[in-house]
Amino acid sequence: MFFLDVSLEITRCRSISASSPSVVDGRHITRNTVSMSLRSALRAQTADCHAAVDALFGSFNLSRTQDYKAFLRAHARVVPSVEHALENGGIGSLLPDWPERRRAHLLAADIRELDDRLPVPLPQPALRCEAAVWGAAYVLEGSKLGGVLLAEAVPDHLPSNYLSPQGPKGAMRLFMDRLDASKVDDPILAAAAARDVFELFLKAGQAELEAVP
Ligand code: HEM
Repeated sequence: MFFLDVSLEITRCRSISASSPSVVDGRHITRNTVSMSLRSALRAQTADCHAAVDALFGSFNLSRTQDYKAFLRAHARVVPSVEHALENGGIGSLLPDWPERRRAHLLAADIRELDDRLPVPLPQPALRCEAAVWGAAYVLEGSKLGGVLLAEAVPDHLPSNYLSPQGPKGAMRLFMDRLDASKVDDPILAAAAARDVFELFLKAGQAELEAVP
Protein backbone atom coordinates (compact mmCIF):
# COMPACT_ATOMS: atom_id res chain seq x y z
CA MET A 1 0.00 0.00 0.00
CA PHE A 2 1.13 3.54 -0.79
CA PHE A 3 1.31 5.80 2.28
CA LEU A 4 1.04 9.55 2.33
CA ASP A 5 1.32 12.49 4.68
CA VAL A 6 -2.00 14.25 4.85
CA SER A 7 -3.84 17.11 6.45
CA LEU A 8 -6.90 16.54 8.59
CA GLU A 9 -7.77 20.19 9.05
CA ILE A 10 -10.35 21.04 6.42
CA THR A 11 -13.69 21.96 7.81
CA ARG A 12 -16.04 23.18 5.12
CA CYS A 13 -16.94 21.87 1.71
CA ARG A 14 -16.48 25.13 -0.16
CA SER A 15 -13.20 26.01 1.46
CA ILE A 16 -10.73 24.36 -0.90
CA SER A 17 -10.32 24.29 -4.65
CA ALA A 18 -7.89 22.89 -7.16
CA SER A 19 -6.53 26.36 -7.79
CA SER A 20 -5.55 26.91 -4.14
CA PRO A 21 -5.10 23.38 -2.90
CA SER A 22 -3.20 24.13 0.30
CA VAL A 23 -5.05 27.20 1.52
CA VAL A 24 -8.40 27.23 3.31
CA ASP A 25 -10.06 30.62 3.76
CA GLY A 26 -6.65 32.27 3.73
CA ARG A 27 -5.17 29.82 6.24
CA HIS A 28 -2.61 27.26 5.23
CA ILE A 29 -3.72 23.69 5.68
CA THR A 30 -1.48 22.10 8.24
CA ARG A 31 -0.18 18.59 7.96
CA ASN A 32 -0.40 16.30 10.93
CA THR A 33 2.04 13.85 9.32
CA VAL A 34 -0.21 10.89 9.97
CA SER A 35 0.53 8.22 7.39
CA MET A 36 -2.58 6.85 5.80
CA SER A 37 -3.76 5.42 2.53
CA LEU A 38 -5.03 7.71 -0.20
CA ARG A 39 -8.55 6.44 0.36
CA SER A 40 -8.35 7.23 4.06
CA ALA A 41 -6.93 10.66 3.27
CA LEU A 42 -9.75 11.36 0.84
CA ARG A 43 -12.36 10.10 3.27
CA ALA A 44 -10.97 12.32 6.04
CA GLN A 45 -10.64 15.38 3.84
CA THR A 46 -14.12 15.10 2.34
CA ALA A 47 -16.05 14.01 5.44
CA ASP A 48 -17.81 17.38 5.68
CA CYS A 49 -18.74 17.26 1.99
CA HIS A 50 -20.12 13.76 2.40
CA ALA A 51 -22.22 14.84 5.36
CA ALA A 52 -23.63 17.67 3.23
CA VAL A 53 -24.57 15.48 0.22
CA ASP A 54 -25.92 12.81 2.54
CA ALA A 55 -28.24 15.35 4.16
CA LEU A 56 -29.21 16.99 0.87
CA PHE A 57 -29.93 13.87 -1.15
CA GLY A 58 -31.45 12.18 1.87
CA SER A 59 -34.08 14.92 1.88
CA PHE A 60 -35.48 13.88 -1.51
CA ASN A 61 -38.49 11.64 -0.97
CA LEU A 62 -37.63 8.97 -3.51
CA SER A 63 -40.96 7.24 -3.14
CA ARG A 64 -42.56 10.31 -4.78
CA THR A 65 -42.13 10.36 -8.54
CA GLN A 66 -41.59 14.15 -8.67
CA ASP A 67 -38.81 13.96 -6.09
CA TYR A 68 -37.24 10.96 -7.76
CA LYS A 69 -37.22 12.74 -11.13
CA ALA A 70 -35.59 15.76 -9.52
CA PHE A 71 -33.02 13.53 -7.82
CA LEU A 72 -32.11 11.90 -11.14
CA ARG A 73 -31.95 15.27 -12.89
CA ALA A 74 -29.56 16.54 -10.22
CA HIS A 75 -27.27 13.58 -10.76
CA ALA A 76 -27.61 13.95 -14.54
CA ARG A 77 -26.22 17.47 -14.23
CA VAL A 78 -23.05 16.06 -12.70
CA VAL A 79 -22.33 12.45 -13.65
CA PRO A 80 -21.93 12.89 -17.45
CA SER A 81 -19.71 15.95 -16.93
CA VAL A 82 -17.47 14.22 -14.44
CA GLU A 83 -17.29 11.05 -16.52
CA HIS A 84 -16.18 13.10 -19.54
CA ALA A 85 -13.65 14.97 -17.43
CA LEU A 86 -12.28 11.68 -16.15
CA GLU A 87 -11.97 10.36 -19.67
CA ASN A 88 -10.23 13.52 -20.82
CA GLY A 89 -7.93 13.13 -17.82
CA GLY A 90 -6.94 9.58 -18.77
CA ILE A 91 -9.02 7.42 -16.42
CA GLY A 92 -9.08 4.75 -19.13
CA SER A 93 -5.40 4.05 -18.66
CA LEU A 94 -5.62 4.11 -14.85
CA LEU A 95 -8.65 1.85 -14.51
CA PRO A 96 -8.88 -0.90 -17.13
CA ASP A 97 -12.50 -1.65 -16.20
CA TRP A 98 -13.55 2.01 -16.44
CA PRO A 99 -16.08 1.41 -19.28
CA GLU A 100 -18.14 -0.86 -16.98
CA ARG A 101 -18.12 1.77 -14.26
CA ARG A 102 -19.75 4.52 -16.30
CA ARG A 103 -23.36 5.35 -15.37
CA ALA A 104 -24.38 8.34 -17.47
CA HIS A 105 -26.24 6.06 -19.90
CA LEU A 106 -28.13 4.41 -17.02
CA LEU A 107 -29.20 7.79 -15.72
CA ALA A 108 -30.34 8.87 -19.17
CA ALA A 109 -32.32 5.64 -19.59
CA ASP A 110 -34.11 6.10 -16.23
CA ILE A 111 -34.91 9.71 -17.04
CA ARG A 112 -36.28 8.80 -20.47
CA GLU A 113 -38.39 6.02 -18.98
CA LEU A 114 -39.89 8.58 -16.60
CA ASP A 115 -40.74 10.81 -19.58
CA ASP A 116 -38.55 13.52 -18.18
CA ARG A 117 -36.03 15.79 -19.87
CA LEU A 118 -32.28 15.50 -19.61
CA PRO A 119 -30.95 18.60 -17.83
CA VAL A 120 -28.16 20.83 -19.05
CA PRO A 121 -25.02 19.41 -17.45
CA LEU A 122 -22.83 21.52 -15.19
CA PRO A 123 -19.40 22.42 -16.60
CA GLN A 124 -16.80 19.68 -16.41
CA PRO A 125 -14.37 19.96 -13.49
CA ALA A 126 -10.78 20.60 -14.50
CA LEU A 127 -8.75 17.48 -13.75
CA ARG A 128 -5.24 18.56 -14.56
CA CYS A 129 -3.20 15.74 -13.05
CA GLU A 130 -3.43 12.10 -12.10
CA ALA A 131 -4.09 12.99 -8.46
CA ALA A 132 -7.13 15.04 -9.51
CA VAL A 133 -8.41 12.19 -11.68
CA TRP A 134 -8.22 9.76 -8.76
CA GLY A 135 -9.91 12.24 -6.43
CA ALA A 136 -12.82 12.79 -8.80
CA ALA A 137 -13.15 9.08 -9.54
CA TYR A 138 -13.26 8.38 -5.81
CA VAL A 139 -16.35 10.56 -5.44
CA LEU A 140 -18.20 9.02 -8.37
CA GLU A 141 -17.39 5.49 -7.29
CA GLY A 142 -18.18 6.23 -3.65
CA SER A 143 -21.56 7.65 -4.60
CA LYS A 144 -22.55 4.13 -5.64
CA LEU A 145 -22.36 3.05 -1.99
CA GLY A 146 -24.97 5.61 -0.97
CA GLY A 147 -26.96 4.80 -4.11
CA VAL A 148 -27.50 1.23 -2.97
CA LEU A 149 -29.13 2.51 0.21
CA LEU A 150 -31.19 5.12 -1.60
CA ALA A 151 -32.45 2.54 -4.11
CA GLU A 152 -34.35 0.85 -1.28
CA ALA A 153 -36.68 3.85 -1.13
CA VAL A 154 -37.51 3.76 -4.85
CA PRO A 155 -40.82 1.96 -5.51
CA ASP A 156 -40.57 -1.14 -7.72
CA HIS A 157 -42.59 0.42 -10.52
CA LEU A 158 -40.02 3.19 -11.06
CA PRO A 159 -36.83 2.55 -13.05
CA SER A 160 -33.72 2.34 -10.89
CA ASN A 161 -30.91 1.26 -13.20
CA TYR A 162 -28.75 4.15 -12.01
CA LEU A 163 -29.11 3.47 -8.29
CA SER A 164 -29.18 -0.32 -8.40
CA PRO A 165 -25.95 -2.13 -7.79
CA GLN A 166 -24.09 -2.65 -11.02
CA GLY A 167 -20.91 -4.25 -12.11
CA PRO A 168 -19.20 -7.39 -10.95
CA LYS A 169 -19.03 -8.29 -7.28
CA GLY A 170 -15.98 -6.77 -5.65
CA ALA A 171 -15.77 -3.84 -8.09
CA MET A 172 -15.75 -1.28 -5.27
CA ARG A 173 -13.05 -3.14 -3.35
CA LEU A 174 -11.01 -3.32 -6.55
CA PHE A 175 -11.42 0.40 -7.14
CA MET A 176 -10.31 1.27 -3.60
CA ASP A 177 -7.31 -1.08 -3.92
CA ARG A 178 -6.29 0.59 -7.17
CA LEU A 179 -6.76 4.01 -5.59
CA ASP A 180 -4.44 3.05 -2.76
CA ALA A 181 -1.91 1.53 -5.15
CA SER A 182 -1.85 4.66 -7.32
CA LYS A 183 1.29 6.72 -7.71
CA VAL A 184 -0.33 9.87 -6.31
CA ASP A 185 2.16 11.80 -4.24
CA ASP A 186 -0.01 14.83 -3.53
CA PRO A 187 -3.19 13.90 -1.64
CA ILE A 188 -4.04 17.60 -1.34
CA LEU A 189 -4.58 17.81 -5.11
CA ALA A 190 -6.64 14.63 -5.06
CA ALA A 191 -8.76 15.97 -2.18
CA ALA A 192 -9.26 19.33 -3.90
CA ALA A 193 -10.63 17.61 -7.01
CA ALA A 194 -12.81 15.35 -4.87
CA ARG A 195 -14.24 18.35 -3.06
CA ASP A 196 -14.91 20.11 -6.35
CA VAL A 197 -16.96 17.11 -7.51
CA PHE A 198 -18.87 17.00 -4.21
CA GLU A 199 -19.57 20.71 -4.78
CA LEU A 200 -21.08 19.97 -8.18
CA PHE A 201 -23.44 17.43 -6.59
CA LEU A 202 -24.40 19.94 -3.91
CA LYS A 203 -25.03 22.69 -6.43
CA ALA A 204 -27.12 20.44 -8.68
CA GLY A 205 -29.03 18.90 -5.78
CA GLN A 206 -29.92 22.27 -4.27
CA ALA A 207 -31.11 23.63 -7.61
CA GLU A 208 -33.31 20.63 -8.34
CA LEU A 209 -34.68 20.37 -4.81
CA GLU A 210 -35.76 24.01 -4.89
CA ALA A 211 -37.62 23.38 -8.14
CA VAL A 212 -39.59 20.34 -6.91
CA PRO A 213 -43.29 21.19 -7.04
C1 HEM B 1 -24.06 12.59 -4.55
C2 HEM B 1 -24.20 12.03 -3.39
C3 HEM B 1 -23.12 11.22 -2.73
C4 HEM B 1 -21.79 11.15 -2.99
C5 HEM B 1 -21.00 11.89 -4.06
C6 HEM B 1 -21.23 10.20 -2.04
C7 HEM B 1 -19.90 9.85 -1.98
C8 HEM B 1 -19.40 8.84 -1.21
C9 HEM B 1 -18.02 8.44 -1.14
C10 HEM B 1 -16.89 9.09 -1.89
C11 HEM B 1 -17.95 7.38 -0.31
C12 HEM B 1 -16.70 6.56 0.02
C13 HEM B 1 -16.22 6.85 1.44
C14 HEM B 1 -15.12 5.88 1.82
O1 HEM B 1 -13.97 6.10 1.43
O2 HEM B 1 -15.42 4.90 2.50
C15 HEM B 1 -19.27 7.12 0.17
C16 HEM B 1 -19.60 6.10 1.04
C17 HEM B 1 -20.83 5.94 1.59
N1 HEM B 1 -21.93 6.74 1.42
FE1 HEM B 1 -22.05 8.29 0.14
N2 HEM B 1 -22.23 9.73 -1.24
C18 HEM B 1 -23.40 10.33 -1.62
C19 HEM B 1 -24.63 10.19 -1.06
C20 HEM B 1 -24.90 9.35 -0.01
C21 HEM B 1 -26.16 9.27 0.62
C22 HEM B 1 -27.40 10.09 0.29
C23 HEM B 1 -26.03 8.31 1.57
C24 HEM B 1 -27.07 7.84 2.55
C25 HEM B 1 -28.16 7.27 2.18
C26 HEM B 1 -24.69 7.82 1.52
C27 HEM B 1 -24.19 6.81 2.30
C28 HEM B 1 -22.94 6.26 2.18
C29 HEM B 1 -22.49 5.07 2.87
C30 HEM B 1 -23.30 4.21 3.82
C31 HEM B 1 -21.17 4.86 2.50
C32 HEM B 1 -20.27 3.72 2.91
C33 HEM B 1 -19.38 4.09 4.05
C34 HEM B 1 -18.47 2.91 4.37
O3 HEM B 1 -18.22 2.05 3.51
O4 HEM B 1 -18.00 2.88 5.48
N3 HEM B 1 -24.03 8.49 0.57
N4 HEM B 1 -20.15 8.01 -0.37
